[in-house]
Amino acid sequence: MKRIGILTAGGDTPALNATIYGAVLRASQLRMEIFGFIKGFSSLLNPRLPHVHLNPLLQVIPELDATLGGTGLGASRDYLPGDDPGLVDEILVRLDQLGVEGLICIGGDGTLNGLQPLTERLPVVLAPKTIDNDLGLNYPSEPDEWYRDDGEAYHRKESKVVFNQEHMVNYVTPGYATAVFDTAMGVERVRTTAESHRRIAIIEVMGRHSGYISLGSAYGRPDIVLVPECPVRIDPLVERIQDLYDLQKNVVIVCGEGIVDEEGNELGSSQQTTDPAGNVILSGAAESLRAMLIERMGDNYFSSRRRGESASAAIFVRKVGHTQRGGRPVLFDRFYASKLGGKAVDMLQEGHNNAVVVLQWGREQGFYVDSFAGHRLRDRWGQIHARPMHASFYDEERMKPSQVGIDYLLPIFTSAIGHDDVEHIRHTLFDSGNLMLPYHSINTDINKRIRYLQ
Ligand code: F6P
Repeated sequence: MKRIGILTAGGDTPALNATIYGAVLRASQLRMEIFGFIKGFSSLLNPRLPHVHLNPLLQVIPELDATLGGTGLGASRDYLPGDDPGLVDEILVRLDQLGVEGLICIGGDGTLNGLQPLTERLPVVLAPKTIDNDLGLNYPSEPDEWYRDDGEAYHRKESKVVFNQEHMVNYVTPGYATAVFDTAMGVERVRTTAESHRRIAIIEVMGRHSGYISLGSAYGRPDIVLVPECPVRIDPLVERIQDLYDLQKNVVIVCGEGIVDEEGNELGSSQQTTDPAGNVILSGAAESLRAMLIERMGDNYFSSRRRGESASAAIFVRKVGHTQRGGRPVLFDRFYASKLGGKAVDMLQEGHNNAVVVLQWGREQGFYVDSFAGHRLRDRWGQIHARPMHASFYDEERMKPSQVGIDYLLPIFTSAIGHDDVEHIRHTLFDSGNLMLPYHSINTDINKRIRYLQ
């Protein structure tokens, strides 16, 4: 291959530039040209095909900085409709006109579903990204456990597989470590204010229906972690909160945005998106939980302990929000994201199509990159499901990560932060120039490099 394309689809993550960087570096080594498409699939849908040459003269353009969060190429939640062959024809004509012979899509489960229409006609490889860490499988046969009822709604059979970390497909995805870093720091910070004011904090974290971010937030030492995979049982929860409150006069609870009640209903509300994986936008879980606790614990409980204050004054909610999706990626994410980007280029060169680059882990070898056929992530009906956190990672009684969950987290986080991550804060945050000079956006520079089809 002489020329390939790359794009970033779906929600952004902090490690996207690192993946692009790894891909551009590897393409240059292989003497391949690489073009970046602007704002994900939206570029391909645009007749002018906005694009940037990322390695003119086989040199990485200087704007591409692996330590920058977000994506210099821009991202969008636009996907290709699966039922419009005419549109795919048009896209292929455009790519052909540009001389692009293969495509790398950096994305998650939605992107993998979305790139499908192209794979019959052009080699396409997915390089993974998601802060939710829900792209992959807990074990290779997981997709076979899905079945559909008469109304075509999906359900899951109870698994008979003995879980083994080494059998996970895509152990961890770039973006997750940085999101957990940010979340754990947020938890630590909320703690001291909850402690000082004798309050109960509920901190909502992202992750949709997968509890990985909540699980990882345990590094910030919350008292209680609630994950979407395990329904909230209000009585034991209230009992645990009261025990803790009586002892330490503050409680910090982390809840995933997708937590459900005992009937399996989401505590927050959900809103449909354009994502072909069926991903929804979730909001309000922590607020609902707060309302439940206010009702169950009542003002009496607090007024005797907080000199007349109400339950609503004592229980507060904070969302970590988009800070967990933005900013500088930590060392773990940068390093493996760029390796995955490089591997994606190798895979195109070796003739892979409809395949995924994965980050595997083994007790002997640690982390290593590998390839996995896209179809092996699909169920019988072709759907890719977000990977739930494996049930064994969570201790329902203690409402904390289990030993298996701890064993899962350790390889990722033990050396996740580099010295330069810390030095970066020291050198840049209180730089006097920050007060005087306007922010210089990478978009301003990339805009100067955008070209269009004639
Ligand atoms: O999938 C990543 C994610 O950050 C989820 O954790 C979250 O639910 C969703 O995207 C939020 O999407 P957006 O910020 O694009 O509305």
